[in-house]
Amino acid sequence: MGMSSYDVANGLILGIETSCDETAVAVVRNGTTALSSVIHSQQVHSRFGGVVPELAGREHERRILTVIKSAMADAGLEMSKPKLEAIAVTMGPGLAGALMIGVAAAKALSLAWSVPIVGVNHLEGHLFAVRLERDPITYPVVMLLVSGGHTMIVFVQEPGKYRIVGNSLDDAAGEAFDKVARFLGLGYPGGPEIEREAEFGDPASVRFPRALRDGSYNFSFSGLKTAVVTYAKRNPEVEVADISASFQEAVVDILVEKTLNAAKELGAASVALAGGVGANTKLRTVLTERAHGLDLGVCIPSRENCTDNGAMIAAAGAWRLHNFGPSDLSLGAYPSLVLPQSI
Ligand code: KG4
Ligand code: ZN
Repeated sequence: MGMSSYDVANGLILGIETSCDETAVAVVRNGTTALSSVIHSQQVHSRFGGVVPELAGREHERRILTVIKSAMADAGLEMSKPKLEAIAVTMGPGLAGALMIGVAAAKALSLAWSVPIVGVNHLEGHLFAVRLERDPITYPVVMLLVSGGHTMIVFVQEPGKYRIVGNSLDDAAGEAFDKVARFLGLGYPGGPEIEREAEFGDPASVRFPRALRDGSYNFSFSGLKTAVVTYAKRNPEVEVADISASFQEAVVDILVEKTLNAAKELGAASVALAGGVGANTKLRTVLTERAHGLDLGVCIPSRENCTDNGAMIAAAGAWRLHNFGPSDLSLGAYPSLVLPQSI
């Protein structure tokens, strides 16, 4: 029985994401509407203050089938003979042992269901999260992609046409949140912990340095991290809440300033947020307010669509499939994959 015997006109794509510490699966219709999205966040890493690659792979292996079954059930699909157009799966970048679990699961389902697979770049997945929002985004858009592993300003002419205009020269923004949180004795992941502390603190209590105010769109966070550590050691009486709020203020300040400068210089119609740090309330509100002040459109995906999820992988997979066709079953895991730049 060939693939043609299946109804592919329904445009349903299963998206599988296992690049880091989230086992996430979703069903998306037409690349824009999530019918289900199930995310299992691994807890085993919290006591180590960071993701342990070996444990991540093992946890994905244990959980993947359960998460797939829930996502299928939530979308009203049978596991035995579902009607799907394709299975999209994150092929990189990420942890090798973690990626391999998702890729292997996608291949197994592909064979069992006679449905093609499409390999998705995790970073492109984050950029496609905006397409899951109700209001269509106006291109060209300058996107701030801020996660645990990446800090990028990407000029997106249209879907698939990217130019990276800024990058972090050292730590990623999320990594800075995680490292500062760890130093302050807060939990992992650090971003949400710092955000919670910051609610009770004064963001103006400490004026931390804003690095690389050099007209470029690059970032540097290791100096800020060192400044926070040094300050906290010298001033043990200052509340963790005040330090957290001041640190968060510095990060948001520099991220928003550079994103808006890039949008103005490149003539973008709108700005958008992507990646786990995009779940930060302060970043979301400051970017929105200041972009409106400049008459720029703004797209801030829901928090669930900012952090790693299967829906964004399905959304990017739909676009890849329709423009470049499916991937071969020899698809591998590519830990160091970069975002393809075509403009
Ligand atoms: O995109 P993501 O879920 O995974 C990667 O691809 O890295 O991003 C995870 C990162 C972590 O560093 C986490 O601390 C950060 O996003 N993060 C936040 C918040 N929620 C998650 N950072 C700041 N504020 C938050 N609310
Ligand atoms: Zn991510």
